[in-house]
Amino acid sequence: AVYHNIEFIERFPETTEAGQWRYTADGGWTGGFWAGLLWDLYERTGDPQFRDWAAAACRALESRAEDATTHDLGMIFTPSHAAGYRIMVDDYYRTTALRAADTLAARYNPQGRYIPAWGLASDPAQNNLTIIDTMMNLPLLWWAYSQSLGETYADAGVGHMITAARAHVRADGSTAQACELDRATGELIAQRTIQGYSDTSCWSRGQAWAIYGFALAGRRTSRAEVISAAEATSAYFLDHLPADGVPYWDFALPSTADEPKDSSAAAIAACGLLELAESHPDVTARPAYWNAALDILESLTANYLNRAGSGREGILLHGCAHRPAGQAVDEALIWGDYYYVEALLRLWQMQAAE
Ligand code: GLY
Repeated sequence: AVYHNIEFIERFPETTEAGQWRYTADGGWTGGFWAGLLWDLYERTGDPQFRDWAAAACRALESRAEDATTHDLGMIFTPSHAAGYRIMVDDYYRTTALRAADTLAARYNPQGRYIPAWGLASDPAQNNLTIIDTMMNLPLLWWAYSQSLGETYADAGVGHMITAARAHVRADGSTAQACELDRATGELIAQRTIQGYSDTSCWSRGQAWAIYGFALAGRRTSRAEVISAAEATSAYFLDHLPADGVPYWDFALPSTADEPKDSSAAAIAACGLLELAESHPDVTARPAYWNAALDILESLTANYLNRAGSGREGILLHGCAHRPAGQAVDEALIWGDYYYVEALLRLWQMQAAE
């Protein structure tokens, strides 16, 4: 195959604006999804062009391994360098991903038992805030532990997941996106939102990060409270879906009239449901998760997939990055594309294993 535009490896497509990709220079929080999509395409097709683009995208992300200002190191380095190591078995990827895991583990507050979302971990203006999104940064710590048996990775991952299950997950299985915590004890001070409708509502992508993050944490640790959190958050998500299986951007909008969907939340949740279909400790619970994931993926494929001739870029249409800020509303999102493809690959692998 011949591909016409190789310039894009120097920059990272993040979200579309009026249907055309907007790029980040350093990958922002999403550069890993672009690299990961290219690795997926290489694995699936064997076309070396995808491999070379994925490798170039990884190189362009490398310096982020020492970025001490964000929890997003897991989302950046798991689909890029950790995946690159699995596929290429080149130590460059392993050592870079382990450096990123060191930076992430160093954010951990062992007194409060949580990883703060943003800013330097020493910054008192920000270091008491956690967000549910962090659950999908923990996979870098699980991976690093599997590579090295380094206790600092396990301590940070396990400590954070227990705090997140306690502070972010409400009794009805919904999640608060953000929590203000007591730095010394980890006690919950207040639930908040950043991208959701309100402090007491349930931002649908946060709910999806929770489902997949708790499901993976449950597989890695077999801890009952985390498996319960995966069950509760997925039940809430499925119980509150509109008829087409793709959520609005928040589950507690006073009215959904004229409100946008977030297809990326559906794609992330489908991955989490497939994870539960594969690894839930109660095998009799697995088929329901499989069926729920399939329903969502069928709807995404029938109704949300970009088609030739649309004039728009991206794979999955109708994502919503940040409704309150008016950012990328009803657009394609690189993480929606990434998790949609990941869900399809998981589906193929699970069917092949049957
Ligand atoms: N983790 C940022 C977002 O989901 O928008």
